[in-house]
Amino acid sequence: MIRHFLRDDDLSPAEQATVLDLAARMKAERFAFQPLAGPRSVAVLFDKQSLRTRISFDVGIAELGGHPLVVDTQVAHFGRGETLADAGRVLSRYVAAIVLRTHGDERIAEVAAHATVPVVNALTDDYHPCQLLADLLTVRERFGAVAGRTLAYVGDAGNNMARSYLLAGATAGMHVRIAGPVGFQPDAEVVTRAEKIAGGTGGSVRVLTDPVEAVHGADVVSTDTWTSMGQEDDGLDRITPFLPYQVNAELLGHAASDAIVLHCLPAHRGEEITDEVLDGPRSAVFDQAENRLHAQKALLTYLLEASS
Ligand code: CP
Ligand code: NVA
Repeated sequence: MIRHFLRDDDLSPAEQATVLDLAARMKAERFAFQPLAGPRSVAVLFDKQSLRTRISFDVGIAELGGHPLVVDTQVAHFGRGETLADAGRVLSRYVAAIVLRTHGDERIAEVAAHATVPVVNALTDDYHPCQLLADLLTVRERFGAVAGRTLAYVGDAGNNMARSYLLAGATAGMHVRIAGPVGFQPDAEVVTRAEKIAGGTGGSVRVLTDPVEAVHGADVVSTDTWTSMGQEDDGLDRITPFLPYQVNAELLGHAASDAIVLHCLPAHRGEEITDEVLDGPRSAVFDQAENRLHAQKALLTYLLEASS
């Protein structure tokens, strides 16, 4: 059976732990693994902008012995009539895996439904699961383990990062607190799913409006932009309601004394996070960014092996 990674919960708790173990080994022995030797090719397609995802997949596929094909879809036929189903079928004849950053989740689902190779979500409107593998790897490095740790995400609690924190954090056995203003909260379906997963892993899930309550005693404090890609012209005030959720020294003062700060980047400095925090001693954001590389190498290796 072909294994895709479209949402965080496409990996079971045991599988997520296996990928994180492998990622840690790949980080320690950076050039020792060559599962794509041949080279086998991987298509990495972008309907939206990217720096980290684009470069970390390109570098990671090359380090695995493979050939990365990084394509902005404006130069393919995606916008002028070729169906995503046909694209999934065609690409499967050339490449070992397809990595796609796109808009609605139905788009990546359509590719996956017709692909005969693993399809990986490199960010959609609803999820950013590769980012979460990097985040969890970073938490593991800093604290030795992820299970039992408390993670507070504050800001736009209805976006892709919030949803992925719910699912991936619950899968990892973390206590996940998500706080955002009314109107910017995760939908009930993903919260229910996260609660179910947490019931089996010893984790827990809380959705809040109070940022101080969310951050109180937390081991990990995370945030993300208040305006995700594609939301620039949605007509909503994406500043005023979020101001109490800014990750600054005062808010961080409510976290555990050894708390770390995460941000998937790009950061809008002075909006969702201050320079003082982002550049401060609690910040783990550049380790987190590096860990995209190691986590994705492990993920691709795992999916290819599990699909063969
Ligand atoms: N964090 C992240 O996905 O960054 P990019 O948008 O630059 O890929
Ligand atoms: N929520 C952000 C994440 C960027 C990596 C976005 O979707 O734009």
